[in-house]
Amino acid sequence: MSNNRVVVITGASSGIGEASARLLAQNGFQLFGGVRNPQRANAIPGVRYGTVDVTDDASVSNFVEWVLSEAGKIDILINNAGVSLVCPVENTSPSEAQRYSMPTFSGLCA
Ligand SMILES: NC(=O)c1ccc[n+]([C@@H]2O[C@H](COP(=O)([O-])OP(=O)(O)OC[C@H]3O[C@@H](n4cnc5c(N)ncnc54)[C@H](OP(=O)(O)O)[C@@H]3O)[C@@H](O)[C@H]2O)c1
Repeated sequence: MSNNRVVVITGASSGIGEASARLLAQNGFQLFGGVRNPQRANAIPGVRYGTVDVTDDASVSNFVEWVLSEAGKIDILINNAGVSLVCPVENTSPSEAQRYSMPTFSGLCA
């Protein structure tokens, strides 16, 4: 199957993001993977990797500009990059809470 849909997945270096990138690339989507360190990503055929840190506005802008310069559009964004903080909220310091206040932050209390 192939199509011209352009997909951007942040956090494509591991876990759900990597698996999603692999599946969509295998199904003919044009994949752009956002990763903090392209050298650490397991290269998936058909996936183009760019550097992005979703906590850094300039990094996000640069990444989006790069994708648009390469593909001319973004049809689908999978905003997957994120971290989990597993600790009781009463034991979480303000700096930790701020550091982990990402778009896809999830926390569990022990
Ligand atoms: N797995 C679960 O049970 C579960 C449950 C609830 C929510 N989630 C959310 O689902 C998403 C994927 O989970 P996962 O289990 O696949 O996690 P994962 O294997 O730890 O992958 C997280 C990805 O996010 C990237 N990332 C982290 N901080 C980033 C940043 N500041 N800028 C850009 N990329 C960043 C990581 O890149 P690096 O390689 O650079 O670290 C990694 O590729 C996460 O947002 C997670 O919070 C997962």
